[in-house]
Amino acid sequence: MLYRLARTGFFQLDAEKAHELAIENFKRFTGTPLDLCYRQHLPNRPVECMGLTFKNPVGLAAGLDKNGECIEAFGAMGFGFVEVGTVTPRPQPGNDKPRLFRLIEAEGIINRMGFNNKGVDHLVENVKKAKYDGIIGINIGKNKDTPIENGADDYLICMEKVYQYAGYIAVNISSPNTPGLRTLQYGQALDDLLSVLKEKQKELAEKYNKYVPLALKIAPDLTDEELVQICDSLKKNEIDGVIATNTTLDRSVVAGMKHANETGGLSGKPIQMRSTEVIKKIYQQLGDEIPIIGVGGIDSFVSAKEKMLAGAKLVQVYTGFIYQGPGLVKNIVKNI
Ligand SMILES: Cc1cc2nc3c(=O)[nH]c(=O)nc-3n(C[C@H](O)[C@H](O)[C@H](O)COP(=O)(O)O)c2cc1C
Repeated sequence: MLYRLARTGFFQLDAEKAHELAIENFKRFTGTPLDLCYRQHLPNRPVECMGLTFKNPVGLAAGLDKNGECIEAFGAMGFGFVEVGTVTPRPQPGNDKPRLFRLIEAEGIINRMGFNNKGVDHLVENVKKAKYDGIIGINIGKNKDTPIENGADDYLICMEKVYQYAGYIAVNISSPNTPGLRTLQYGQALDDLLSVLKEKQKELAEKYNKYVPLALKIAPDLTDEELVQICDSLKKNEIDGVIATNTTLDRSVVAGMKHANETGGLSGKPIQMRSTEVIKKIYQQLGDEIPIIGVGGIDSFVSAKEKMLAGAKLVQVYTGFIYQGPGLVKNIVKNI
């Protein structure tokens, strides 16, 4: 009810302004009685995944808290885990505005943010300060001006810097808004990237006496054959988890709607079915060997359950949260 009222106000604003205002308010309310506006007490529903214990299976997807500024607020809402980022080695402004669009009739969003973030050092400071007893995933990417051939270097820099402070590390090679990034999902390029990241993980695990799982985040725009190849590479390189999926370039579901032709990645209800299909397909390959974190269009307990029945151990939400607020988390966790 409260969120519906707030949403009416937020939806009057430009989408990115609304986002910034929400982040500002979360920062301001944290640690004050005003956090009662969104605090929720949810039952414990522990899940073991990637060697970690998640207090419930519902997480915040990457991109909402890119700089890790509001981890406590999302914790107060009852998220079992919060994935911050995508973060890059150096701060970068992202693409020109406007770059975020609501497709209200479809309950979707198109974004071409382009990894706007304050850089990995800033994020690490925020993660260190956060008073949150859940698991913090840190999602890492490459700077736009790093040539794709040197992309692995950026992931390694980020890995080194976040390793000590992360519950798990998500490797994002599936954003459609960084030119060339998605090419890292294919064939030898993927194999090479995963093998250097695995080596680095071994080295850091020894150095810090702590094993931090690595999860690869993939796009929904992959053929069956490409999905099989990715799964083979995940197994070969002993990657700990896979996050499926990121946003799509496909517009068939929203054709003709306002903003449908904006460049960028589409998320929310329009990608619900495709993401679930991808999860099913990779589960056929991975079985219980490598856990899947399901994300894409979750807007209810039923759609979260569908992802789990398709093979996801954990789920994440982003766009559904924008449309429904913290009540969505409660609805899923209570019913699971
Ligand atoms: C505005 C916006 C920004 C996003 N930024 C990121 C990002 O920085 N890194 C990332 O891995 N995914 C990012 N995503 C993708 C989401 O994490 C998620 O994978 C995708 O939106 C599908 O889930 P949803 O339908 O619940 O939104 C972003 C999504 C949106 C809508």
